[in-house]
Amino acid sequence: MTVAIYPGTFDPITYGHMDIVKRAAGLFDQVIVAVAAYSGKQTLFSVPERVTLIQQALAGLSQVTVLAFDNLLVDFAKVQQASIIIRGLRAVSDLDYEFQLARMNQQLADGLETLFLMPAEQYAYLSSTLIREVARLHGDIDAFVHPAVASAMRTKFKE
Ligand code: COA
Repeated sequence: MTVAIYPGTFDPITYGHMDIVKRAAGLFDQVIVAVAAYSGKQTLFSVPERVTLIQQALAGLSQVTVLAFDNLLVDFAKVQQASIIIRGLRAVSDLDYEFQLARMNQQLADGLETLFLMPAEQYAYLSSTLIREVARLHGDIDAFVHPAVASAMRTKFKE
C-alpha cells in the first residue's frame, strides 16, 4: 500500500488544494492531508479549525485522512509510513520555493520522494492569502472555496 502525504498550511483549504487531493487520491491507496502547525505563517484559522474545514470539504473521499502535525514533515511522514510527499505547482513562479523545500526534505530523508501535481488551470491563480484578503473586505469567495469554508470565513470576519 502506498501512502502519500499532502502537507500545507491550508489557511484555508481552497478549490485548488482540493483539486490536488483528488488527483492524488486517484494515484495512491491512501492520501494524508497534513496540516502544519509550524509553517512560518501567521494563520487566520487555528489548527483544529483548519482540520475540521478540510474534513468537511473532502467528506466522501474515503481514502483521504486529515491529520495535524507539529514536527518536521519528514519525521511525521515516517511515522505515517508515507513514501511520497505531494506538492501542488500552480505556475513556474512556485518552482523556486518548491525546489528548496523538496531538496531540503530529500537531504533530511532520502527515499521520501516529492511528487508535483498541477491543479486545473482555473485554479492556477488561487492562493489562501488572496482569498483571505477578499473575504476580509467582504468580497464574494464562493467560487474559490467549499461552502463550509466560505461560511467559516464570513463568521471570522464578522467577529
Ligand atoms: N491551489 C491553491 N493554492 C495553492 C495551491 C493550490 N493547488 N498550492 C499551493 N497553494 C498556495 C497556498 O494557498 C499558499 O498560499 P499562501 O502563501 O497565500 O498561504 C501557498 O500556495 C503555499 O501554501 P501551502 O501549499 O499551504 O504550503 P505551505 O508552503 O504553506 O506549506 C509546509 C509549507 C507546511 C509544507 C512546510 O512549511 C513544512 O513542511 N512545515 C513543517 C515543518 C518542516 O518540516 N519544515 C522544514 C521544511 S523543509
